[in-house]
Amino acid sequence: MTQIAICPGSFDPITLGHLDIIERSTYIYDKVVVGIADNPSKAALFSLDERVEMAKEAVAGLGNVTIESFEGLLTVFARANGARAIVKGLRAISDFEHEFQMAHLNKKLDNTLETVFMMASPEYMFLSSSAVKEIAGFGGDISGLVAETTQARLRRKFAR
Ligand code: PNS
Repeated sequence: MTQIAICPGSFDPITLGHLDIIERSTYIYDKVVVGIADNPSKAALFSLDERVEMAKEAVAGLGNVTIESFEGLLTVFARANGARAIVKGLRAISDFEHEFQMAHLNKKLDNTLETVFMMASPEYMFLSSSAVKEIAGFGGDISGLVAETTQARLRRKFAR
C-alpha cells in the first residue's frame, strides 16, 4: 500500500526549513503532498498561485513530491489525497503548544489521520517565513534561508 503524507502550511514563502522537512518526509513516505492552505483570514505577502509556483520551483529536484493548494479543512484535504499522516516540523518549544492543539483537533475531526512531528534540523531551528519576509523587506541577505528561485521572487516583490 502506498503511504502518503501531507506537509501542510501557508508557505508564504516556502523556506529551506520547509524543504528540509519535505525532503526528509520523502525518505519515510512513498508520496509527499505539500498542501498550501488558502486561508482568507490570514494576510499573505504572496498570492496562493505565487505560493504554489514558488513551492513547485523549490521542490523541482525532489522525487515523489507534489504541490497542491487547498481551502477548508486540512483533514478533508488529507483524506481526499489518501493520506494517513500529516507531517509537521517542530522548531522550538514555542511551536509545540499550537501544534499540539492542532494535532488533537485534527485527530478529533478524523481519527484515521496521524500527525507526525519531525524535529527541525539545527540549522533551521531559527528560520520562519515571517523572518524571511522581514529580512527581505529591509533588503537583507536571504541566501541560505530560501531557495534561489524564491530569493528572486522576494527581491522582485520588494522591488515594487
Ligand atoms: O504554515 P502555517 O500557517 O503554520 O500552517 C497552518 C495550517 C495551514 C497547517 C493550518 O492553518 C491549517 O491546517 N489550516 C486548514 C484549516 C483547518 O483545517 N483548520 C483546523 C486545524 S485544527
